[in-house]
Amino acid sequence: MIKKGIILAGGKGTRMSPLTKAVNKQLLPIYDKPLIFYPLSILMLCKIKDILIIVNKGQLDQYKKLIPDGKNLGIKITFKEQDKPRGLPDAFIVGEDFIGSKNVAMILGDNFFYGQSLSDTLRKCTALKNGAKILLHKVVKPELFGVAKIDKKTKKIKEIKEKPKKFISDHAITGLYFFDSNVVKFAKTLKPSKRKELEIIDLLNKYKRKKKLTAEYLGRGGAWLDTGSISDYYKTSNFVQAVQNRQGVKIACLEEIAFINKWIGKSHLKNQIKFYGNCDYSNYLKSIIKKSV
Ligand code: TTP
Repeated sequence: MIKKGIILAGGKGTRMSPLTKAVNKQLLPIYDKPLIFYPLSILMLCKIKDILIIVNKGQLDQYKKLIPDGKNLGIKITFKEQDKPRGLPDAFIVGEDFIGSKNVAMILGDNFFYGQSLSDTLRKCTALKNGAKILLHKVVKPELFGVAKIDKKTKKIKEIKEKPKKFISDHAITGLYFFDSNVVKFAKTLKPSKRKELEIIDLLNKYKRKKKLTAEYLGRGGAWLDTGSISDYYKTSNFVQAVQNRQGVKIACLEEIAFINKWIGKSHLKNQIKFYGNCDYSNYLKSIIKKSV
């Protein structure tokens, strides 16, 4: 079982400038919550309670105002600064002490996942003992993504390619990864690419060459949305609004997940209501307390 998780929540946010000039992308709203709530909720759905959030240098205070330490969510949250965006595998170099000798999940701070069988799929991923596992999702324009071709029987990856010009697969590699503890050692051997970043594809290739890279699918009922550009950002926000308003349940209500997981009780919910103040989110927390009587 993977018990540790990292959220990579720094980045330049170039595509969303000027929105991201003063505020980090992950603190901007996706409908009624800051973006960071969504990847955090995914790690909590993975039953991961020990979480490292990597943020840009100088932005720690912004994050701590929102999620001080995780106590009221029944989890442990630590923060670490990345001095500059060196690429996704840098998460494992910055997170070396946090990872120690344990296996680890890593989610990009701007990735959104939703779907009916999501928890089951996540359970299969966190069962990883050795090697690495990625989560794939079918896309219409594979040429815009990192993609993977997979052996259906063994679930082992045959080929992976970043933004392929020639079709190899329409299964995109999403921003949720599961690694054994060798990931730190492997990340340290990577060399920066032409765009001067460490590349996740190069890291995954290290596992693939050893035949230790497998995958799970986020099926047809699942949604994976990237929030990197302004238009994708609003599409995700509209998606959350539509689902929530139709079903009357919130996506990525952290306290609700913690309460269902039995990590917190009603007193914690009450503390959080005080913390957020008089708002729609607090009213939702009140409704959880009421329903559980
Ligand atoms: P990207 O989408 O690659 O980059 P970005 O968010 O900085 O945006 P842009 O391309 O518009 O400049 O990053 C994916 C996620 O990973 C995002 O949540 C930011 C985060 N990230 C880091 O925290 N550190 C890094 O070194 C990199 C490359 C990304």
